[in-house]
Amino acid sequence: MFSKEDNEKLCRVGPGTPMGEAFRRLWIPFLLPEELKADGSPLRVRLLGEDLIAFRDTEGKLGLLDRYCPHRRVDLFYGRNEHCGLRCPYHGWKFDTTGRVTEMPAEPENSQMLQDTRIKSYPIIEWGGAIWAYMGDPACKPETPPLMEWATVPDSHRYVTKRLQRTNYAQGVEGGIDSSHVGILHSRLDPEKVELPFKQRQVSPISTVPYLASDTAPKFFVRPTRHGMTIGARRNATDDSYYWRITQFLLPFYTMIAPNKEGGVVMGHSWTPIDDYNCWVFTMTWNSERPLSEDERDNGAVHADTKNDGSYEPLVDASSDYGLDREVQRLHSMTGIHGIGMQDTAVQESMGPIVDRSLENLGSGDAAITRFRRQLLSIANELAETGQVTVANNPDWYKVRSAGVVLPHGVDFQEGAAKYTEVK
Ligand code: FES
Ligand SMILES: [Fe+2]
Repeated sequence: MFSKEDNEKLCRVGPGTPMGEAFRRLWIPFLLPEELKADGSPLRVRLLGEDLIAFRDTEGKLGLLDRYCPHRRVDLFYGRNEHCGLRCPYHGWKFDTTGRVTEMPAEPENSQMLQDTRIKSYPIIEWGGAIWAYMGDPACKPETPPLMEWATVPDSHRYVTKRLQRTNYAQGVEGGIDSSHVGILHSRLDPEKVELPFKQRQVSPISTVPYLASDTAPKFFVRPTRHGMTIGARRNATDDSYYWRITQFLLPFYTMIAPNKEGGVVMGHSWTPIDDYNCWVFTMTWNSERPLSEDERDNGAVHADTKNDGSYEPLVDASSDYGLDREVQRLHSMTGIHGIGMQDTAVQESMGPIVDRSLENLGSGDAAITRFRRQLLSIANELAETGQVTVANNPDWYKVRSAGVVLPHGVDFQEGAAKYTEVK
């Protein structure tokens, strides 16, 4: 059983919490480049439970500052982004992207206060289709973000979106590594066979992978790795072969879904913690070899549609029961909810923002989830005991991808699929 104390440790991400401090040792993707324009509107940001303000200055430099002015605490969202700095509207203090105060127009000239005052600021970079922040001890800053394949391919080879999910990050990760729900939650039903029991009506959610419906009780193999873990879900294919969906969990909150065909696109997520109760679901689709086609950019509605008001809230949410259509649920799909992404969000949000894990009854299909929790607690413990988070300083460990392959019986899945899962 997962204790209430461990649940608190896993889920709390604010300053001074064990997990929040571990996350502060890593670069974290939190914005899309489109959200910040040079001299454009400053953007309210909440990340790891801290209220911040982000802006792009006249020269394109990025800044991430405390949300509140160090003078008398005005919200810098109301500030002016002008001539290489963000100016507080109350008394005009102006801050550059590094947190230096460059002007105090209401103070005497040459005031020592100008040299002595700073605003809290964090390093922030644009890289790999996202904007990343580092919120930890400056002396421990990793040289680069993790070298995940989606972030290292050319822009034309990748498609990245984000949407708001009103749950703790860990609930999202647990959905991302939970292969056993794929053939159930996301299954389509044959509308011609309403009289038959559920199992006999299932149609695979992925037309190129019939095995998802023909074998809905896969056997799971969980292998810890230096980047997190590799999970093999084994289903029967032919008399002498298995179909393996091999997914990756990358510390501390990245997941990768198996591709649906050889040479096809790979998909993944970052479950970026906004605070204890909300996360950004970044969804990435990429192909290492070639630009994406229009069809490939959204593969099975995993990238959910969002409002275009800058909130990145999905078009449907709990207030509309995620658009659940009972007639569609009766005839065509498990949930009656449109799109794989929103089906996941609906069940994950329905547990409440922080699920009470002490009340669960985990089964054999939940082995990856148990391991994920232990790994997360262990990075927090590592930081407390050694002052280090080893994985943060090894961006090369992230050069892996997921795979979907048919392998003969008797072949170890990690060895048999190595040529697909290793990124050169
Ligand atoms: S409160 Fe910001 S300059 Fe006075
Ligand atoms: Fe799912």
